[in-house]
Amino acid sequence: MKSPNTVPYRGKITSDLRQQLLGQKSMVMWFTGLSGSGKSTIAHAVEEKLYDLGRLTYVFDGDNVRHGLCSDLSFSPEGRAENLRRISEMVKLFLDAGIICLTAFISPLRADRQKCRDLIDCGRFFEIYVKCSLEECERRDVKGLYKLARQGKIKNYTGVSAPYEEPGQPDLVLDTVASSLEECVDTTVEFILAKMNMQ
Ligand code: PPS
Repeated sequence: MKSPNTVPYRGKITSDLRQQLLGQKSMVMWFTGLSGSGKSTIAHAVEEKLYDLGRLTYVFDGDNVRHGLCSDLSFSPEGRAENLRRISEMVKLFLDAGIICLTAFISPLRADRQKCRDLIDCGRFFEIYVKCSLEECERRDVKGLYKLARQGKIKNYTGVSAPYEEPGQPDLVLDTVASSLEECVDTTVEFILAKMNMQ
């Protein structure tokens, strides 16, 4: 929905100029996967590596965003869709600022992920599937939430009582059962640097 009676201001300093200043291409790496699959861990480790290489990044993390901007939203299908819409709008601004965005949200539904891609609409949206079986995520149960979900104490828990739809054609797959954290991070950093040089 657009606000009535508003006209976007177009400044002279464009996104291209900001990216030139930073010496990088802004893009978004959209990590998706079950809770506990490793999205946040990988995204933050990728950020550290890129920082060391002099690249400006920002990690948008599910738990963090849900403590602030999206603290009013539930985990119902509507709440998740709105969560992802707000995040996409935020990512759009950060891309405009020239920043490499790393998002770590379950984003369980294909249709919602497609909406994010369409909303961001930058031609530099890359979907990264952080692949890990539900059994392994439950075994890890880092936050103890799977246990609570199995006990019925948390409703609509992804993988337990709410769906997760695997990406059909992800740009990259990171298998966190078969590969180490270091391997997943190196693969992602190489992927980002390759995309940066191609554009
Ligand atoms: S979503 O589906 O993209 O809107 O979810 P997201 O914003 O990424 O939030 C996922 C984190 O919230 C915690 N949590 C839940 N996850 C799934 N289902 C339910 N019902 C739920 N309730 C709380 C959980 O710790 C997720 O963290 P991650 O980082 O994914 O493990």
